[in-house]
Amino acid sequence: MECETVNERTVAGNYSEDFCARGDAMDSSDGFCNVEGKRTSHPPAQYSDPSTIVPPKSLPELIERLHDIFANEDISIEYVQKLMASYKSNPREWKKFAKFDKHRYTRNLVDEGNGKFNLMILCWNEAQGSSIHSHANSHCFLKVLDGSVKEEMFYWPGNTDQAEAMDEDGGERKEGRSENNDENSGMQKWADNQLMRNECGYINDDIGLHRVENPSHIDKAVTLHLYSPPFDECECFDQRTGKQTTSKVTFWSKYGKRTPFGRHPNRQISCSTEAENN
Ligand SMILES: [Fe+2]
Repeated sequence: MECETVNERTVAGNYSEDFCARGDAMDSSDGFCNVEGKRTSHPPAQYSDPSTIVPPKSLPELIERLHDIFANEDISIEYVQKLMASYKSNPREWKKFAKFDKHRYTRNLVDEGNGKFNLMILCWNEAQGSSIHSHANSHCFLKVLDGSVKEEMFYWPGNTDQAEAMDEDGGERKEGRSENNDENSGMQKWADNQLMRNECGYINDDIGLHRVENPSHIDKAVTLHLYSPPFDECECFDQRTGKQTTSKVTFWSKYGKRTPFGRHPNRQISCSTEAENN
């Protein structure tokens, strides 16, 4: 799948616009919304109300439920986010997927979600981090299984007009997408988040770009990521210049077994010094 440019964005999946853009911008009447906050989607009743979620007892049960949810055209982001958060991390269940590398963080495929999503475990050694990256118009859920991660949020390059206008208005900076794509203006950060064990975050390209790292110099971190629709390329960005580069998404392991990329890391297409990017 080709990653589009910022000014030529397309929806990469036939149900993407039925997602809510932000988990905290829900229509209070029923919890579903589109980017503008208007009600547009109609997930099945059993996958609509997060207050009805019974925490999955295991990782396999979580995966089974995700399959059921993503078999539908309409999805509630809030429901998926809270379902993933409700799973109580059990290392015995995910340890076989958690393969670390001393040089960089690793991406390890857990489940292909019947083509609707990719579920993967990312392993972060002490102080390892990603580049600043986009998500190919997909939806990204990020749950912490072990340790914690720091998430730095950035506007798209050249998004200074939007940032200044919002500052003057005293408004809160929330969305990071802009039609202005001046790659020479560098990257502007608008938030720092920290996600602790079992918490689940969410991002898409309308919200902005992010960089994820394990802030600890003592402990490792492990995170569970769901991307829908799946993608195999995305854009990463130089923080100083805003210059963007297309990067291949590769797996260090699949279903608990090392891949050729994992055995021969130099074959991976890398983004500057980072072979992994999202
Ligand atoms: Fe990401």
